[in-house]
Amino acid sequence: MNKIIQPLYTTDCGQAFVGNSLDLLDTLPKNSINLVVTSPPFSLQRQKEYGNVVQELYVDWLAQFAKKVKDVLAEDGSFVLDLGGAYEKGRPVRSIYNYKVLIKFCEEIGFNLAEEFFWFNPAKLPSPIEWVNKRKMRVKDAVNTVWWFSKSDFPKADVKRVLAPYSNRMKELLKNGNKYYTPKMRPSGHDISDGFDVDRGGSIPSNLLQIPNTESNSQYLRYCKIVNAEGHPARFPKKLPEFFIKFLTEPDDTVLDIFAGSNTTGEAAEENQRKWISIEIERKYSAASVFRFINITDENEIKSLYYRLLNENVFNVEIKKTQSRLVSIVQNSEDFQLLQQAQE
Ligand SMILES: C[S@@+](CC[C@H](N)C(=O)[O-])C[C@H]1O[C@@H](n2cnc3c(N)ncnc32)[C@H](O)[C@@H]1O
Repeated sequence: MNKIIQPLYTTDCGQAFVGNSLDLLDTLPKNSINLVVTSPPFSLQRQKEYGNVVQELYVDWLAQFAKKVKDVLAEDGSFVLDLGGAYEKGRPVRSIYNYKVLIKFCEEIGFNLAEEFFWFNPAKLPSPIEWVNKRKMRVKDAVNTVWWFSKSDFPKADVKRVLAPYSNRMKELLKNGNKYYTPKMRPSGHDISDGFDVDRGGSIPSNLLQIPNTESNSQYLRYCKIVNAEGHPARFPKKLPEFFIKFLTEPDDTVLDIFAGSNTTGEAAEENQRKWISIEIERKYSAASVFRFINITDENEIKSLYYRLLNENVFNVEIKKTQSRLVSIVQNSEDFQLLQQAQE
């Protein structure tokens, strides 16, 4: 960071900031981030609690962030953007805003589209009610577009880190290859030669990521209930950022989420030994996101931590995970010493 801006809380691997990403992005060193993975407030017609921008202005609004993201990304870094679909207001006609975002980011800002992904959420509820449930003239929209942008043609990426489990048929083939195929050149040009039946630890995943968004009993949600806070209304499932974190970064690389919400990205990064930075404009969401990192079970301690984080004057709360189950939450080193002494 060039300017001294204090995080709300820090963990072993990460820093959670409260503020506007447009400002905070200016404070990050250039070329310092390996992956930005994020899900912005969507361009929906209905006003969402977490803030919205009218559809027409949306693409330009998002582009301001993208320009700054490009500056902070490493040359071989990636920018992964999850965008949900939307309908035009009052019409059974899809908005094409997510494709406009794609074109603007590539043609005006200078990103490459490394690959397009589609996140299929089989648990998605049908909507809008008028076109899907009542009039039954549109099917359920259960797929988000996820654009994987890069600065260079060769962003850091290794499919071996995200291999998918083999299908049952492939497992059989690995056990008894001769029974299932004869080595030959396929009409498609694929060489199905000896070696096709070598176990490589999994199959190459496709760009259709099937991940149900069904979290209901996580520590994050349980602790939100304890402090009487609503869970963030637009969380993505941890497996989504986790796929890109594993695929596009290595341990100790730095992952940034500029619209962090409940900081699902930070949790996925922490669990995979990546450094992380999260930026969320709403303090209440950032404060509750700490529940993803603590190892406390005492309800009063959970409440007092949460209320402390809600206080506008509080910054730099350190969440330290020790080797054992003990977790020290310290606001300054003096408290930390006292805690350590008490634990000995
Ligand atoms: C779709 S939600 C992200 C949810 C997140 N992926 C999760 O799993 O919890 C978008 C978030 O962006 C935040 N936001 C909106 N404008 C912002 C800005 N200018 N800077 C930082 N955060 C912003 C909103 O408050 C909201 O929490």
